[in-house]
Amino acid sequence: RGGKEDSRGALVVLEGLDRCGKTTQSTRLVKHLESLGYSTELWRYPDRSTSVGQMISSYLSNKSQLDDHTIHLLFSANRWEKRSLMESKLKSGTTLVVDRYSYSGVAFSSAKGLDIEWCKAPEIGLLAPDVVVYLDIPPEKAAERGGYGGERYEQLEFQKKVGQRYQDLCSANWKIIDACSTMEDVEKQLQEIALDCVKTCQEGKPLSCLWS
Ligand code: TMP
Repeated sequence: RGGKEDSRGALVVLEGLDRCGKTTQSTRLVKHLESLGYSTELWRYPDRSTSVGQMISSYLSNKSQLDDHTIHLLFSANRWEKRSLMESKLKSGTTLVVDRYSYSGVAFSSAKGLDIEWCKAPEIGLLAPDVVVYLDIPPEKAAERGGYGGERYEQLEFQKKVGQRYQDLCSANWKIIDACSTMEDVEKQLQEIALDCVKTCQEGKPLSCLWS
């Protein structure tokens, strides 16, 4: 689908606690946008395919131990190593649906007790999402969903703290969807939000950087 000269793809980010349904919903959203003829890709962070991503993966599965600051910076580096590709994809008109982004980075690390401004600093200059969709689920409900997979952060008390941190980060370009609604309901709401955003970007909304 063509557009104006400064037309571009949208950066749509999904955030939420572990087991909130982000992965299922982002996959469905990509299929939907593609079916409408929009060039769309599904991205996720951490991107475990890179060498930094493998260090993160090993940490998350408790196979290695890292200082809290160190792992925070690795998560950030994992976004930086994909930044230029992200920009070129968006500029070439591809919409990116991204399962977790800098907000996960800040929410999870600051929930461990790290200073929130320190956590935000390495994210400065990454591309700002056009919309952040937060799939809102009470931590207790998330924990009930088929159980946690045993990764490092999948513990109820910790997820409660992460939920509070997400609330502190929530700003004007966030849309909140009740993740306890039916899968179809969530899907529909997400489609509307994303489509609206894709159209705005097609009309030439300029790209900006975090933290804006
Ligand atoms: P995933 O289950 O979506 O692959 O995410 C892995 C875990 O990593 C999840 O518990 C959230 C956490 N995380 C961070 O702590 N910092 C980050 O920057 C990102 C992207 C994820």
